[in-house]
Amino acid sequence: MLNEIGLVGLGVMGKNIALNLSDKGVTIKSFNDSMKKLDDIKKEFSNEFIGYTNLEEFVESLETPKTILLMVPSGKATKEVIEKLADLLEEGSMIIDGGNSFYVDSIDNGKYLSEKSIHFIGMGVSGGEDGARNGPALMVGSDLSLETSLLDTLKNIAAKSEVECLGVYQGPGTGHFIKMVHNGIEYAEMQTIAEIYLILKNLNKTNEDMSNFFSSQTEKNKSSYLIEITSEILQKKDGDKFIIDQIKPVAQNKGTGRLTIQTSLALNVSIPSIAASYDARVQSSNQYTTKINQELIGEDISTKELSDALYFSRVCSMIQGLELISKFSIDENHKISILDVLDNWRGGCIIRSNLLSELKKEFGENNDVFNLNNIFSTLSKNRASISKVLQITTKYNIPTPVLSASLNWFNNVTSVDNPSNMIQAQRDFFGRHKVQLIDSSNDINIDWD
Ligand code: 6PG
Repeated sequence: MLNEIGLVGLGVMGKNIALNLSDKGVTIKSFNDSMKKLDDIKKEFSNEFIGYTNLEEFVESLETPKTILLMVPSGKATKEVIEKLADLLEEGSMIIDGGNSFYVDSIDNGKYLSEKSIHFIGMGVSGGEDGARNGPALMVGSDLSLETSLLDTLKNIAAKSEVECLGVYQGPGTGHFIKMVHNGIEYAEMQTIAEIYLILKNLNKTNEDMSNFFSSQTEKNKSSYLIEITSEILQKKDGDKFIIDQIKPVAQNKGTGRLTIQTSLALNVSIPSIAASYDARVQSSNQYTTKINQELIGEDISTKELSDALYFSRVCSMIQGLELISKFSIDENHKISILDVLDNWRGGCIIRSNLLSELKKEFGENNDVFNLNNIFSTLSKNRASISKVLQITTKYNIPTPVLSASLNWFNNVTSVDNPSNMIQAQRDFFGRHKVQLIDSSNDINIDWD
């Protein structure tokens, strides 16, 4: 275990991860501009916490080799702190970026620091405030083989499920890549749940009924954290009013979903469920003034059908995210084991659920996202339900961007009747781009005249 760690960034995540480290016996030395903030926070620590308002004194105070954890906003702020610290740290020191940095920035920061012989780890941290305090999922990316003392410390603070929720990956940006995709899946799961909530609402269910529906999903939908909190949210009242009914239907985002989509475009991987969930948030802020009253759904959708639809869309989103990770791994030759990623997300993080262990069984040892015959056969058994749900929601004009994207994705990647032969023909017709024929390995131009 490390004896001490230097911490820059005392926001919600920084403070809570520091409390978690402190509980495990690690002395926290922290830099902040405000002595008042340091003094206030110190009161929450039962073990040693030493605050500094002078960056040089802070760095000077750390034992060699120095280890500094950054929990600051991603982008410019992280870059600035890294540059300032790099001027003060001696060779062999270590900076761990535990913020939500874009993986490309972490690759750049790793390179910048390695030129100064300073070690760098890009570490994705998931689990929100409670996770940081009591056991987050940690996604660690580094070019180094980690020192035992550091590895033990990270293991000690990480969530424990059937497995330790600490993933260690090759490359300074890989931990943040995996965290970014985690967030993309998080967006899709959240929107899938929100769409099921909207359907239930339009089936005229009460908030108690809806809460019961979500709490009944433990078996079929595999004890998902996001589904469990949805059930709780639906029950919460202020006086005699449900809180959920008092909240504006406008969803913000801090950008990790957008970065997941940008990255998927750059890597040529299709993640339509994740993309639709991001678009749904954007559309919630860009509403048109025309509002059309809509009638309630006038026919029955069974609990089983909704439950199957929820499961179907969650699995599709998860597989799309794993395909993105797999493509990144192949392109960068990082040899990421999908099984490790599934273990990494098994506890502590926002998308934790037994679905991860179910997928792990399906993956076996082959690490191949394109060869998931068992899970695809389970999905095809659920397809009739999601298809029926979407027929009814279409008839009653209930928006279901993610449920629809998931079904269309599944149909398009599994259909024997893909119409892209027509796309090839059209491209060759107007642009002489050539076509590939089924029985030939040569690309040829067709004489369309
Ligand atoms: C986590 C979360 C977290 C994320 C927030 C807000 O894994 O703990 O993903 O990292 O930043 O949930 O994200 P958005 O503002 O983009 O929804």
